[in-house]
Amino acid sequence: MTKTPPLTSQHSSSQKNGDFSLKAHLYSFFTGFLYLFGGARESRFRKKVLQQFLPSTGEEKVLDICCANGKQTQTLASLFPRGTVVGVDIDPKMIFYAKKHFQNFSNLKFVCGDVSRLPFSDNSFDIVTSFLALHEIPTTLLSLVLHEVKRVLKTMGYFLVFDFQLPPKSFSSLNLRYYALRLFENESAAFFMMLDHKQLFKKFGFKLHAAQTYFKGLLFCLLLQPEK
Ligand SMILES: C[S@@+](CC[C@H](N)C(=O)[O-])C[C@H]1O[C@@H](n2cnc3c(N)ncnc32)[C@H](O)[C@@H]1O
Repeated sequence: MTKTPPLTSQHSSSQKNGDFSLKAHLYSFFTGFLYLFGGARESRFRKKVLQQFLPSTGEEKVLDICCANGKQTQTLASLFPRGTVVGVDIDPKMIFYAKKHFQNFSNLKFVCGDVSRLPFSDNSFDIVTSFLALHEIPTTLLSLVLHEVKRVLKTMGYFLVFDFQLPPKSFSSLNLRYYALRLFENESAAFFMMLDHKQLFKKFGFKLHAAQTYFKGLLFCLLLQPEK
């Protein structure tokens, strides 16, 4: 397998300029609200999921794909104090915000890059995490992204996926959470939610290690390992 080329100059110059981004500033308020809507306190809930699923000696090298403003990546850095945590996102404004607000951990690094062309070498991470990320990837790029995750993961590495799915039909709740979510999400997200995720990851060479659903089936978490 080949190494992916380094980041483009366009990315690094935007980071240097560091434009103010309202989206990056408001992102955590918005997601916090969504979790409250589901009945949970966001940071506590996310930390619990990470601790429940991730095998950790505290020394692993972790990649957080589509890290947005870096809040989750910072939580990861606190869980792997002797390891290294890297957050990658395509939006230079998100990365600028993350660097500015969360780079107080010496084991934490943020990189601007495209997850369909990850700027890391083969077999370089023990763990890759994808939190509410894959549904954001255009359907046409999803297979490239999964190939890239597999490429950068070590043979005995873990891939943690936490994302939306179509919840089971329930007359009582009328799937209100799903319809509320669809107000904010595009067609690729709707397509992703309808997939059989266990089958999807199997097709791309990941074997299932553990699985759980949350918020009446609206969210799922899968811990996967590459079948190399
Ligand atoms: C819903 S947010 C991710 C949430 C974040 N992981 C969290 O836990 O709060 C989706 C992010 O994916 C990023 N993104 C979308 N396409 C991408 C790509 N091809 N490469 C890298 N990041 C991408 C967006 O810039 C956005 O910040």
